[in-house]
Amino acid sequence: MFLGLDLGTSGLRALLIDDGQQTVGEATAPLDVTRPHDGWSEQDADSWIAAAELALSQLGASHDLSAVQGVGLSGQMHGATLLDETDKPLRPCILWNDTRSHAEAAEMDADPKWREISGNIVFPGFTAPKVEWVRRNEPEIFARVRRVLLPKDYLRLWLTGEAVSDMSDSAGTSWLDTGDRNWSDSLLQVSGLDRSQMPRLVEGSEVSGRVRAEIASRFGLKANVPVAGGAGDNAATAIGLGIARAGEGFVSLGTSGVLFAACDTYAPASETAVHTFCHALPETWHQMGVILAAADALTWLSRLTGKSSADLTAGLENLEAPGHALFLPYLGGERTPHNDADVRGSFLGLSHATDTEAATRAVLNGVAFAFKDCLDALSATGTRFDTLIAAGGGSASRVWIEAIATALQIRIEVPRVSSVGAAQGAARLGLMAATGAGPQVAARPEIAETIDPNETLIAAYAEGHERFKDAYKAVKEVS
Ligand code: XUL
Repeated sequence: MFLGLDLGTSGLRALLIDDGQQTVGEATAPLDVTRPHDGWSEQDADSWIAAAELALSQLGASHDLSAVQGVGLSGQMHGATLLDETDKPLRPCILWNDTRSHAEAAEMDADPKWREISGNIVFPGFTAPKVEWVRRNEPEIFARVRRVLLPKDYLRLWLTGEAVSDMSDSAGTSWLDTGDRNWSDSLLQVSGLDRSQMPRLVEGSEVSGRVRAEIASRFGLKANVPVAGGAGDNAATAIGLGIARAGEGFVSLGTSGVLFAACDTYAPASETAVHTFCHALPETWHQMGVILAAADALTWLSRLTGKSSADLTAGLENLEAPGHALFLPYLGGERTPHNDADVRGSFLGLSHATDTEAATRAVLNGVAFAFKDCLDALSATGTRFDTLIAAGGGSASRVWIEAIATALQIRIEVPRVSSVGAAQGAARLGLMAATGAGPQVAARPEIAETIDPNETLIAAYAEGHERFKDAYKAVKEVS
């Protein structure tokens, strides 16, 4: 058996697969995000350990974890987990969707060497500008930073005692030389850091360390079980969905939304606000467009209406032409294509007739149009998709996937089980690290349904997308 641990933003998932890669067990533990100020988003790093303990205890109660031969980790990317001399967190982790460091990010991004070396815009959500924010605003904390870790790597430290990261997640720090797959000493130096404060780097499918005896005995695992490098959640999802070669991609409706393309070569195009990161397997990379609020936009509407996300979408059986009501899903700023931390969400074109159903359709379409913006940015880099695989919790809504397929004019395949992608990918990387198996273990999932663009609505969606782009410009003008 192999174990995948995926540290998401709203919860941690532990997934057990057998030697034939069938899921044999699963447990989840919820996580809270705190938002002390507009644009801030933080989590207590020790709540991740508590969530892992809970999920492992649940799994251990129904399964013999001594049969686990390899573990893999995946997780929310970019979080700045700052540790002191004793490896204790110095402050709450500043998460990927926190945009407080937009001024620091813009300043760093103005120096061309960041884009040249890292292959990406220095986005406020990335790790380096957050650490710069801490250096300027909390100098007493910055002075005590012994280690900077990404969220899943803090779990690894607990699990193995080793400070290690993998290439895909590290590419989201801004400090990685993404083409060379190595830390950039010169970028670290600009941040007032050096290599000794950074984790050792391995590939996602390599062994990063072994489960400590103390942890093993608590949860019934065998001591010294190998733990793979693992991956950032998007690269892990790709491995879970068998997406490793150019032309293959997925669209994910998690808290964030991601349009992901695997690449055989390193071809950064930072001017498009497309992200170019290492993939989880050696000598491969990936590109992605990232929208900060996807399923999170529906969660926001659900808080406002008092109806769950599932209830909001349950009655929407047929796709309709986008109505007059438009929604811009920029609740906490946007990455691709705008790189705009200041913009906020909007409802436009409301009328007396705009009821909860129309508002829900506007939110789903707003996210679909934001994905179309990402597709246009990716297309400008030469990336093409034949089909996409749907991933993330939001893909349970058929009408949402049909709206995205229609806005993108790309067929979307919905796997039979779509929510476990990242944990499945993590478990597969654990399998590769433990057995030496190659990328062929990353097979495509069983597809439950293929959703084609709705031919009769393509023109209406194209027109809706034009209005959506105009709305962004108009909102920028008045704000
Ligand atoms: C990717 C990103 C998000 C997080 C969410 O750049 O910021 O997809 O990884 O977990």
